[in-house]
Amino acid sequence: MKNQEVLLVNKSKFSDCVIQQRPIGTLNEGEILLQVDKFALTSNNITYAVVGHQIGYWNFFPAEGDMGIIPVWGFATVVETQHAEIEVGQRYYGYYPMAAHLKVVPVKNSEHGFIDGVEHRRALPPVYNFYTRTTQDSLYSLETENLLCLLRPLFLTSFLIDDFFADNDFFDSQQIILTSASSKTALALAHLMHHRKKEGKSKVQLVGLTSPRNKKFVEASGYYDKVLVYADYEQLDASLNSSIVEFAGNHQLQYQLQTHLTTSLKHNCLVGIVHWEAMRGEEKLPQKGTFFFAPTFAQEKQKLWGRAAFNSKMEGAWRQFIGDASDWLNVQELQGAERLKAVYLTMLAGDFDAKDGYVFSF
Ligand SMILES: NC(=O)c1ccc[n+]([C@@H]2O[C@H](COP(=O)([O-])OP(=O)(O)OC[C@H]3O[C@@H](n4cnc5c(N)ncnc54)[C@H](OP(=O)(O)O)[C@@H]3O)[C@@H](O)[C@H]2O)c1
Repeated sequence: MKNQEVLLVNKSKFSDCVIQQRPIGTLNEGEILLQVDKFALTSNNITYAVVGHQIGYWNFFPAEGDMGIIPVWGFATVVETQHAEIEVGQRYYGYYPMAAHLKVVPVKNSEHGFIDGVEHRRALPPVYNFYTRTTQDSLYSLETENLLCLLRPLFLTSFLIDDFFADNDFFDSQQIILTSASSKTALALAHLMHHRKKEGKSKVQLVGLTSPRNKKFVEASGYYDKVLVYADYEQLDASLNSSIVEFAGNHQLQYQLQTHLTTSLKHNCLVGIVHWEAMRGEEKLPQKGTFFFAPTFAQEKQKLWGRAAFNSKMEGAWRQFIGDASDWLNVQELQGAERLKAVYLTMLAGDFDAKDGYVFSF
């Protein structure tokens, strides 16, 4: 039986990780084997581990005992098939393990893709179980594969947050404060909101909060009206109606922002937890905030607009964004499980350059 390399992570101690050889297994009737060609690793994947138990991210690609497999977004090619309609060589964008292969049970197969119908994934959000066929994907092009791995799920989130704020008249905000303003998801949102302003569709000031080492990078994006380092949060104008879009998930920062802005805080949108080691704290927060879960909003909007209209709106915005993103994003293509493990550990510690985007192949 053939083996494959997999990066296993301890579900309670994320710095404890190991590359393991695991059997691929043989195919049953109706199954296919995908070879993972490439995938991206960003802090979003670290967050999958941080909230793995609450949201179920450990359940996509189960492992034994205390160890788990973090999901990643990427491309894979069918290398073996026992499915009547799916042939060797077909390629799919979707959710993969940090591994060389994935065995799936395609159901509801069409020219657009299929759903992995394997039992243990059935209760998980459908957005994560769908595999998009590259030949029918309006966002796909060979030249933008790395950007699709790195930015597509993050951009989709930001596209939905921007739409959510517009639907709610920006919660009457005069300024929107984005924490971890250097993260790709925050930059995508700032890009969309900046363009809305340029088109005269909003007057909201965009403020980015970031760490000292990323300040210049965030300013250079040109998306924010003002960029402050975390320690300078008191420079935020507390007399303006404000919203926070929270990517840092830093308890102390939340406390500082809430107690500084007090009643001018109109909406506190909780999206990410990149400062995962600082997510808990002693101070009682005046308000909890509202969690924004992209898969739920995606499902709602697809239903409301229809799939075709949703895709076409997203496509226009995506093309504009990736045109811009290539100015600030430094894509690094890396090979092998050992490099993956090393980058994973530096990303976990937050010890990487915000401009870098890592794409791996085994
Ligand atoms: N709710 C949803 O549906 C949804 C969907 C997509 C993404 N998200 C979340 O959005 C967040 C951003 O993800 P991303 O992939 O865009 O991030 P990314 O580009 O990898 O973010 C990099 C930035 O995050 C901060 N950072 C990362 N690790 C850190 C650490 N260990 N300690 C301190 N700071 C750290 C730094 O920013 P600063 O110096 O600026 O703080 C760093 O420049 C994630 O938490 C992700 O899960 C949520």
